[in-house]
Parts: sequence; structure tokens; C-alpha cells
Amino acid sequence: MKRNFIITLALALSLSSFSYALPISDSDNPHNMSNQATHTGPKAAATLAGGTDRICVFCHTPHSAAPKSPLWGRPDPDLMGTFPLYADAGLAIKTDTAKTGYVAGAEYPNGSSRMCLSCHDGATSIGVLLVGTPITMEGGSETITKVSAVIDLSTSHPISFNYNNDVVTTVLNPVDYQLPLGLIEVPLDGSGQMQCTTCHDPHEDTRGDATYGNLPFWRHQGNLTSYDDVCNDCHIAAPISGSLPHTLP
Ligand code: HEC
Ligand code: HEC
Ligand code: HEC
Ligand code: HEC
Repeated sequence: MKRNFIITLALALSLSSFSYALPISDSDNPHNMSNQATHTGPKAAATLAGGTDRICVFCHTPHSAAPKSPLWGRPDPDLMGTFPLYADAGLAIKTDTAKTGYVAGAEYPNGSSRMCLSCHDGATSIGVLLVGTPITMEGGSETITKVSAVIDLSTSHPISFNYNNDVVTTVLNPVDYQLPLGLIEVPLDGSGQMQCTTCHDPHEDTRGDATYGNLPFWRHQGNLTSYDDVCNDCHIAAPISGSLPHTLP
């Protein structure tokens, strides 16, 4: 009896994740900006030279990629050099910047976060590419206009800082912080930095999936408690449950 219940539950979970978590090829995934998309967000115009069904081209290029790679096809955001740090002045990672690398300026943000902000700054054209003709967008949606999708770094969880043992033990309080525990995979980038991609997977959208708390593009590994697990990988103490990482402090 109990065994049947567990099997039914496992089946229900796998079915629900199968039906809602949307791969990037799905026409309802907001990062599918090809003209074939069926969502209401920005997408390419119907008369696109080179084909209207190209999905990856908005972010990747097979040739002449930016050195920040993997094969990124986007230029730097228009706001480069003026992005604010997270506003909490008391942040420990702002103190020993030689170790944390958390400083505003021409190199901030860096890594894949720079690429996210080349659309999510609300200023850079979505269709602009590193190489080649910009993609014309349908219906005047040249930049992201949806207010909540324009990310303000002054009210967002800090990104583009080093997260390593030295930072945890000598800059942060090791009673409150730890290296990623592996409750769930929260990838640091190739330089060991926390980025947007530590919390978000830009390919698979989980917004409509209750299994993952309806969080958008969420790191989840099929896990019901993935929200807390992502945070608790690094945070030992509160302020975790319920805090929304883009409306801080
Ligand atoms: C909205 C931007 C965006 C789009 C569109 C996109 N990608 Fe990516 N992709 C990324 C980012 C950002 C990374 C780096 C992920 C990381 O650092 O964890 C990445 C990484 C990858 C990688 C390296 C392995 C990995 O997952 O980290 C592959 C392979 C890849 N993308 C394939 C594709 C393909 C194929 C498409 C089209 C079907 C596509 N991507 C569309 C943003 C995008
Ligand atoms: C080529 C432009 C582009 C890039 C690059 C890009 N995005 Fe997006 N993203 C969009 C658009 C367009 C939307 C939908 C906005 C709307 O609905 O108006 C979106 C939506 C989202 C959403 C919300 C989805 C929802 O269901 O509400 C998240 C989260 C997100 N992006 C994260 C990222 C992250 C993280 C990166 C970098 C790894 C990234 N994006 C890179 C264009 C981009
Ligand atoms: C600490 C984890 C974390 C980091 C780092 C993070 N996000 Fe998010 N993001 C979230 C969570 C959780 C939500 C859902 C919150 C909500 O819906 O209010 C979210 C929501 C979003 C949304 C959708 C907002 C909306 O309501 O339409 C976008 C777009 C987004 N993030 C982009 C980014 C970008 C770009 C970066 C890097 C600059 C980033 N995120 C870094 C956790 C994170
Ligand atoms: C890769 C490790 C890591 C992950 C994952 C992570 N954080 Fe953080 N978080 C940090 C670090 C480091 C700081 C900066 C602490 C400091 O300098 O005092 C921080 C700061 C914060 C702050 C600001 C605290 C303040 O004093 O203003 C909040 C709130 C927060 N995180 C919540 C979250 C939530 C919610 C999640 C999950 C959705 C999350 N964090 C995921 C490492 C992480």
C-alpha cells in the first residue's frame, strides 16, 4: 500500500515536471525568441533574413564568440561601467575587495551575468548581436520593457564576486556561510564567481511548474524544496525562507 503510494507520487512528480518545465525549444519558453514562439514576450519579426526559427542565435554564435564564452554571441550591455553594486553598505564582501573582487566599474558585472544584462538592463537591444546584422523584433519590442524583468543590481542578490574558501573564512563569517554544500548544483563560473547562472538555468523555464515553486529558469534537479536548497547551499543562517532576491535589501 505504502509502496504503491510512493510509486504514484513519484509518477505524479515526474509527469508534472515533464509537462511543465519548458526546454528552450518550447514555443512558450520566454528565452525562445524566434518568430515561432507563442508567448506574449519579445520575439523576432516574421520577415527575418536567415530564417525565423533561430533560437540559439540570440545568445550563442558558432564563430567569433566573445572571449567570455561558451560561444557567446552578444556584445556588452549599453550600461557597462555604470551598473550599481547591491545597495546594502554593510555587506562583508564589499570590505576586502582584493579577495572578493566585488567592485563597480568597467569589469562589473562579468562572466555570464554580463550577457544576461545585455537584455535584462532594459536598455540594450534584444536583437543586437556581436557579429552580423541585428535581428528585427516584432511589434516594437526592441528592449525588455516588462518592469519586473528589468533587473536593478542595487536591489538584487550580489553577483560577480569570488566565492571560495578564503572568502568564506576570512571575509564572511563561517558561522553564517559555507562553500556550496551540494544540496543542489549551484554552479560558480569558470573563475569561481557567483553569477545569475548560479541560481538560474537560462535554458529550461520552470515558471509554470509548481514542483519548483513556479520560480523562473530555476536550478532544481527535480527537487520540491529547491528554493531553500539553492540558498542553503551557501547560507547557514537566515535570511533565507521567503526573501525575494530581486527586491532586497
Ligand atoms: C537567453 C540566452 C540563451 C539562449 C537563447 C541559449 N543559450 Fe545556451 N547558454 C546560455 C548561457 C548564459 C550559458 C552558460 C551557462 C552557464 O554558465 O551555466 C549557455 C551555455 C550553453 C551550453 C554549454 C553547456 C551548458 O549548458 O552550460 C550549450 C551546449 C548551450 N548553451 C546550447 C544552447 C543551444 C543549442 C541553444 C538553442 C537551442 C541555446 N543554448 C540557447 C544562454 C543561452
Ligand atoms: C537575448 C536577450 C536575453 C538574454 C541574453 C537573457 N534573457 Fe532572460 N529574458 C529575455 C526576455 C525577452 C524575457 C521575457 C521578458 C518579457 O516577458 O517581457 C526573459 C525572461 C527571463 C526570466 C523570467 C521568465 C519568466 O517566466 O518570468 C528570467 C528569470 C530570465 N529571463 C533570466 C535570464 C538570465 C539568468 C539570463 C542570463 C543567463 C538571461 N535571462 C539572458 C531575454 C533575454
Ligand atoms: C540568489 C539567487 C538569484 C540570483 C543570483 C539571481 N536571481 Fe533572478 N530570480 C531569483 C528568484 C528566486 C526569482 C523569482 C522571484 C520572484 O518571482 O519575485 C528570480 C526572478 C528573476 C526574473 C523574473 C522577474 C519577474 O518577475 O519577471 C528575472 C528576469 C531574473 N530573475 C533575472 C536575473 C538576472 C539577470 C540575474 C543576474 C543579474 C539574476 N536573476 C540573479 C533568484 C536569483
Ligand atoms: C553561492 C553562494 C550563495 C547562494 C547560492 C546564495 N547566496 Fe545569498 N549571499 C551570498 C553571499 C556571499 C552574500 C553576501 C554576504 C555579505 O557580504 O555579507 C549573500 C547575500 C545575501 C543577502 C543579503 C544580506 C544582506 O546583508 O543584505 C540575502 C537576503 C541573501 N543572500 C539571500 C539569498 C537567497 C534567498 C538565496 C537563494 C534564493 C541565496 N541568497 C543564495 C551567497 C550565496
